[in-house]
Amino acid sequence: MKDIKAKILSNKLVGRVYYKMALEAPYIARAAKPGQFVQIKCSDGLEPFLRRPFSIYRLKAEGSRLKGIEILYEVVGKGTEILSGKKEGEFVDILGPLGTGFSLSRASSLEPRAIIIAGGIGAAPLVYLAEELKKKKIKTIVLMGAKTKGVILCEKDFKKITPEVYVSTDDGTYGCHGFVSRLFHNILKTLESRFETIVYVCGPHGMLRGIAEICEERGFKCQVSLEEKMACGMGACLGCAVLTKSGNKLACKDGPVFNACELSW
Ligand SMILES: Cc1cc2nc3c(=O)[nH]c(=O)nc-3n(C[C@H](O)[C@H](O)[C@H](O)COP(=O)(O)OP(=O)(O)OC[C@H]3O[C@@H](n4cnc5c(N)ncnc54)[C@H](O)[C@@H]3O)c2cc1C
Ligand code: FES
Repeated sequence: MKDIKAKILSNKLVGRVYYKMALEAPYIARAAKPGQFVQIKCSDGLEPFLRRPFSIYRLKAEGSRLKGIEILYEVVGKGTEILSGKKEGEFVDILGPLGTGFSLSRASSLEPRAIIIAGGIGAAPLVYLAEELKKKKIKTIVLMGAKTKGVILCEKDFKKITPEVYVSTDDGTYGCHGFVSRLFHNILKTLESRFETIVYVCGPHGMLRGIAEICEERGFKCQVSLEEKMACGMGACLGCAVLTKSGNKLACKDGPVFNACELSW
């Protein structure tokens, strides 16, 4: 993990309140794993004082050389508002890569199959994961849920990686009508059983819990990425405790990715 001043290579509006920012950070790009995050100091002043956590959305390469990382973020408050006003060529302090990301290891000799489930901005860490799964030639299905058509994120990214991308919207304006957990139920009816299925999820807490319950019923391994509020982001302040079956753990250090069966929902 390193604390660096990273040059902003680009910072573009990509949806109603969503931005993609590319940062020059070769060390972080080389060390990063899917599901890890960086802490960014959004302001040059004191307000907001704390850094803000953002998942590593993609690595940025120039030819065969890793040049940096990209983040995908939603403007929700002061820090992200300031970040959205930053211009190409400016610098921001970033600390990373941080946390424990997704595990790609297999538990059996069956052929692996990954099901990625993204809710809203929860898509951000899952694109990098899908890219790594593709490199490992693991068959991947992506399910995406959003409130409405205008806020579906990363559909094109996922479609470049796998042909099996399915979308649901809560209001039925695009894809299947209803929550992504219902879409997951429907997809499960069509799946062959000869694979070892691993489910990777990021999104709102209720969605994570719903998907985790379905996985438990079906006996699937399930890894969830939690978006807890964080302060230091590196295990020092104990401000991001998560209750697990073996006591409290820290979302910033032991997570943000946890095995769903380990958590006390
Ligand atoms: C490990 C991790 C990875 C994350 N990755 C991303 C990402 O890739 N893209 C992205 O857009 N956001 C991500 N988040 C959430 C992001 O950190 C917050 O949206 C951001 O800190 C808000 O800062 P702010 O100053 O703009 O808003 P604030 O003024 O601090 O808060 C505005 C609103 O956002 C809510 N909020 C603040 N922090 C969080 C949080 N951690 N989780 C959920 N809601 C929060 C507050 O309750 C409040 O309602 C991630 C969070 C974590 C913990
Ligand atoms: S945010 Fe400080 S310990 Fe996790």
